[in-house]
Amino acid sequence: HFFSVVAMEQTFIAVKPDGVQRGLVGETVRRFEQKGFKLVAMKMVQASSAHLEEHYKDLKEKPFFSGLCTYMASGPVVAMVWEGSGVVAMGRMLLGETKPQDSLPGTLRGDFCINVGRNIVHGSDSVESAKREIALWFKREEIVTWKSCTHDWLY
Ligand code: PPS
Repeated sequence: HFFSVVAMEQTFIAVKPDGVQRGLVGETVRRFEQKGFKLVAMKMVQASSAHLEEHYKDLKEKPFFSGLCTYMASGPVVAMVWEGSGVVAMGRMLLGETKPQDSLPGTLRGDFCINVGRNIVHGSDSVESAKREIALWFKREEIVTWKSCTHDWLY
């Protein structure tokens, strides 16, 4: 009973413009689904510069900040919220390291990209940033509460 009133952990995952253009939306969704996580929100968004500057505001002083925002505004992204116990940390494991050269095969970045400035996917780096990013990208009513009728043991 206690379990049911505690909000399940959620993370914000986005397929970046290069990932969308390379047809990696399905691959990204497939890996999160097959791991056992639960998709509770998804939409395609052409993000504005202002929105992306807010999303990446902690990186404002970095030399790559404006290039990162331009890249992220260069085409639509597919924004998602995934839910499950440990989904923030395990989601980062499915993505791989920020730098593709540090990402092992078997991860999305390890399998599909070679350039940190075109690293195909984004994932929240902590539970706190997940909350902030989900609130920035989604309205409350866009996040769907649903339950599988067949698998009580999956999220
Ligand atoms: S840092 O420097 O440690 O704060 O950076 P990091 O946390 O590893 O990455 C934060 C996001 O910045 C992107 N990034 C870059 N983009 C372009 N060029 C370079 N050199 C670069 N370095 C880091 C990185 O992909 C992270 O974006 P997200 O969307 O979170 O993956």
